[in-house]
Amino acid sequence: MTKLTVIDLYLMKKEGRKITMLTAYDYPTALILDEAGVDIILVGDSLGNVILGYKNTIPVTMDDMVRHCAAVSRGIKRALVVGDMPFMSYATPELAVRNAGRLVQEGGVEAVKLEGGREVASTVKLLVDNGVPVMGHIGLTPQSIYKFGGYKVQGRTAKAAKKLIEDAEILEKAGVFSIVLECIPWKVAKIITESISVPTIGIGAGAYCDGQVLVTYDMLGFFEGFKPKFVKQYCNIRKFIMDAVGKYISEVRSGIYPTVEYSYELPEEEEEKLSRELASLKAKK
Ligand code: KIV
Repeated sequence: MTKLTVIDLYLMKKEGRKITMLTAYDYPTALILDEAGVDIILVGDSLGNVILGYKNTIPVTMDDMVRHCAAVSRGIKRALVVGDMPFMSYATPELAVRNAGRLVQEGGVEAVKLEGGREVASTVKLLVDNGVPVMGHIGLTPQSIYKFGGYKVQGRTAKAAKKLIEDAEILEKAGVFSIVLECIPWKVAKIITESISVPTIGIGAGAYCDGQVLVTYDMLGFFEGFKPKFVKQYCNIRKFIMDAVGKYISEVRSGIYPTVEYSYELPEEEEEKLSRELASLKAKK
C-alpha cells in the first residue's frame, strides 16, 4: 500500500480527482478510516467537542493533541495524517515551531493545520521553511468563535468574500499545501478553488472544492446535540449502540449472558486436585 503524501494531493487537484478527508481521534477509528480508503485523516481540535465534552475547541491543549495524534498515527498505513494546532499554540513564532515540532515528533503527524488567513501567513512560511507541511483553514474558524459571536456562515458580503479570496492567495504564497474552507457560500469557495493551485477541502462550502471533510462522529450520527446544515448523516451509530447496550443490560440481568460459551474451563485433573485440597482443608478445620 503506497503512503499518500502532500505531492499526491496536488496531482489529485490537477487531475480533477476529489480528495476525501475525515477526522479521527483514536486508534480503532483510524484503522477503519484508513482501510476504507480515506485520503486525509485529520486529528482535529474538534476533539474538544466530540470526545472531551467541551462546548467548543478553545480548551483543547497541546498535550491533548499530541496524545490523540499519536494514537491515530499508529493506526495509519495509507492516509496522510494531519494534526490541528490548538488554540494559542501558534500565537508566536517560537510557540508555533515548538508545538508543530511536538505534533510531528511526538504525535507522528505528517502535516499540521492552523486557522487564519493573512495574519498567520508568516507563521505558515516559518513552519514550511522548517520542513513542516501546513494546511490552512479559513472561513468559519472555530478557534475565533468568540470573535465571530457564534457559528455563523462567513464571506456573505462582497467585502468579506474578497478578503477570503485574498487570504487564500496569501496562504498559497506562504506555502500551504491545501486549505480547508469552512462554512462559506459555495460561489466564494468555487472562486477560491479556481484561483489557487493548491487543493481546497470544503466543509459547508459546497460542491466545487477539490475535496470534502466532515467530523466523522457527525456523519456517523454518534451524538445528536449538534447538526449543522452541511452535515449529511450516513448512518445512526448512536441507535446501533443504544440497541446493543440495551440488549447487553437485559441479557446480563436475565442471566442469558455470559454462558459457558463465553467462559474459561478449568482442566479436569486440576479440578479434581482442587477438590481434594479443599476437602482436606475443610477436614482440618
Ligand atoms: O477540528 C476539526 O475537526 C476541523 C474540521 C472540521 C475541518 O478543523
